[in-house]
Amino acid sequence: MLWQGNRGLYALLQAARHTGPITRVPRLGWVVTDPVLARRVLNDHDRFGMNGEGGVGHLWTQLFGDEMAQFFGGARHAEVRTRARGLFTEDAARDLVERSQGRHHAELARRLAAGGTVDVADAARVLAGRMVADLLGLPADRPDRAYRDLFGAGERLAGLALGTTASTGLDPATIARARAIVDEITTGVPRGYADGGPGTLLGRCRAMGLGLPLARGLATLLVIAGTETGASGTVRTVALLHDTGQQRALLADPSLREGAVREGLRVAAPAPVIGRHVARDAVVDGRRLRAGDRVLLLTYLATNGAGPFDVHRAYVPETRQLWFGGGRHLCLGAAVARTQVARMLSTLHSGGRPYRIVSRRAARRVLVPSYAELRVTLARG
Ligand code: HEM
Repeated sequence: MLWQGNRGLYALLQAARHTGPITRVPRLGWVVTDPVLARRVLNDHDRFGMNGEGGVGHLWTQLFGDEMAQFFGGARHAEVRTRARGLFTEDAARDLVERSQGRHHAELARRLAAGGTVDVADAARVLAGRMVADLLGLPADRPDRAYRDLFGAGERLAGLALGTTASTGLDPATIARARAIVDEITTGVPRGYADGGPGTLLGRCRAMGLGLPLARGLATLLVIAGTETGASGTVRTVALLHDTGQQRALLADPSLREGAVREGLRVAAPAPVIGRHVARDAVVDGRRLRAGDRVLLLTYLATNGAGPFDVHRAYVPETRQLWFGGGRHLCLGAAVARTQVARMLSTLHSGGRPYRIVSRRAARRVLVPSYAELRVTLARG
């Protein structure tokens, strides 16, 4: 799947399997494969930043202007996280997923119970689009097509980052293409910004005094952060449970669900690489990193080192939740992501029978490797 989805990433991961915990790779920068070192980098905010060559903030400021950099570090970042926190708690995540997706899960369960086939990959994309629209305060009850399109636009925008492994600098043609996609993603934002209540992210942006241009940037960031990763984590967990035969253990003991979700995300690692800019000279594991260098944390290798998918595996202390990053930028949507995966598993198992994968197709040329299609039906008997 990695090979089909993202060949550059596949090649990087293959090469890095045989290197040490931290290595310097010509043209790429420092590559870290060890979970403990990766977390050390993520927690060292003085030396490693998101703005500047190698950090994701560098990509965003080229699209939305230098002001956007404040979301990727410093006091403004802390303020936005504090103000938004209430929307991302475990309880809020459960409410959000049920409100935006519950009705559609019931429909999927009905189709499966009637002997039908469901494309879990397509459903996960549409559901991720509905969730993120609801969170922002955009209409979340339109026909599926609207959310398939929103997801597709996010995927195209993220896809423009495929060529940035060696440098996060974008050429003018890529910036123009990216801006056109941003316009598509954010058409409803001025309305959501003007009317959104405190239960929506756009409403909170307005209350915080963030202007509309920055609110558009933040909305785009959320679409990118919250759709492709979430859908990939969901659909790959569904496939892993099936392929390893472990869904039977889960059916027999639903208390394993939390472990199944954690293992699915650990093994799939939908954010397989995290980039950082070296802001000040640093020493990591005896290696001297210079200000201006870039670091690639290969979370995929760091989390998979613990072994294959196993619903009985206990929490791995070295890995923690590295698939959600670490430090001040630890994924804000972690509870939402976990709830979505768990909700899909409960839908597929709602008939008390295992599901069977009828056909599958890997997604091609995407930032986050996933399935383009994963058709399942309930097994007989
Ligand atoms: C399985 C699904 C997901 C994975 C694996 C994932 C992974 C990550 C990672 C690794 C980061 C940190 C990036 C860095 O440090 O450079 C991150 C940040 C973030 N994620 Fe997620 N994410 C997922 C789902 C979501 C969802 C569903 C949402 C929103 C509903 C979301 C919202 C965010 C936001 C807003 C940030 C930025 C946080 C900050 O910079 O303070 N993510 N995510």
